[in-house]
Amino acid sequence: MRAVPSETDSAPDRNLALDLVRVTEAAALAASAWIGRGDKEAADGAAVNAMRSILATVPMRGVVVIGEGEKDHAPMLYNGEVIGDGTGPDVDVAVDPIEGTTPTAMGRWGAMSVIAVATRGSMFFPGPIVYMDKLASGPEGLGVVSLELSPRDNVRELAKARHASPRDITVAILDRERHQHLIEEVRSAGARVRLIGDGDVSAAVLTAMPESDVDLLLGVGGSPEAVLGAAAMRCLGGQLQARLWPRDDAEREAAEAQGYPLERIYATEELVASDDVFFAGTGITDAELLQGVRIGRERVLTHSIVMRSRSGTIRRVRAYHQLAKLKAIQLIS
Ligand code: FBP
Repeated sequence: MRAVPSETDSAPDRNLALDLVRVTEAAALAASAWIGRGDKEAADGAAVNAMRSILATVPMRGVVVIGEGEKDHAPMLYNGEVIGDGTGPDVDVAVDPIEGTTPTAMGRWGAMSVIAVATRGSMFFPGPIVYMDKLASGPEGLGVVSLELSPRDNVRELAKARHASPRDITVAILDRERHQHLIEEVRSAGARVRLIGDGDVSAAVLTAMPESDVDLLLGVGGSPEAVLGAAAMRCLGGQLQARLWPRDDAEREAAEAQGYPLERIYATEELVASDDVFFAGTGITDAELLQGVRIGRERVLTHSIVMRSRSGTIRRVRAYHQLAKLKAIQLIS
């Protein structure tokens, strides 16, 4: 029976992120069985399944805004799917059961499981546009760097704001052919380029983590990842700006027909228009932000990050799971 919502239920006051970390842990654990096995679909299927079963226990009335795609193509966690246990706040949910399906399947660095939750109606839906051009920085970049500026000017302005030299700035960029010119421009501005194979959500997060030397994220990556990155930035006090980046005329026309302004730069607060944001991520394979799943003889160790915008608290969670129990519930085979 669904509980009757009370007035306090509508404000997401409970730290949902502490419930959500169980969701990303489950997805990462399930995905870990597929690390290095060359099967992206199987890894994703296992993570989706695990994520969805734990999501059903989370006290929220969630609607998936950023999920596995349209209902027809995604049997689970599809956009518009209602999730949660039917109590608690009305929220939008963005999920990426495996942010980095290729590194998971290939046994490479840089995959994690991610979820973000925010007040209902607050998350941007990128419609038919698969990619966005992004800029992410920590708090010191607010009002200093912008997608309106050239990459060269962004490097210079961030260095100036820090009383540093452009040589001290490190820019994370996805290692893709489309970024050849961007990489050259950033290097010629004097900055270092950190080429990443995958995973621009964690690269965005790193720009706001004092222990990382990544200062900026630039370049074109997935639209869902832009919303997830913006949710993280609402918690971290940094920013993620993004502009829709149609791949071809068909996508451009579809976006225009649906009224999406292609020139517009969406601010962090437009990508996630809420002060109540919860974010959780768990490492699948090793990366700078989070270590991957470690399967020992008796226990399995996971590393997660849990954040909440209202308090600004960032927690790191190391969890030891009993291998026999995970096998008993078939989370790990
Ligand atoms: P998925 O594994 O979730 O598909 O995304 C991995 C990723 O590297 C994202 O972090 C990034 O935004 C996107 O892919 C970039 O897309 P592409 O590999 O097509 O350039």
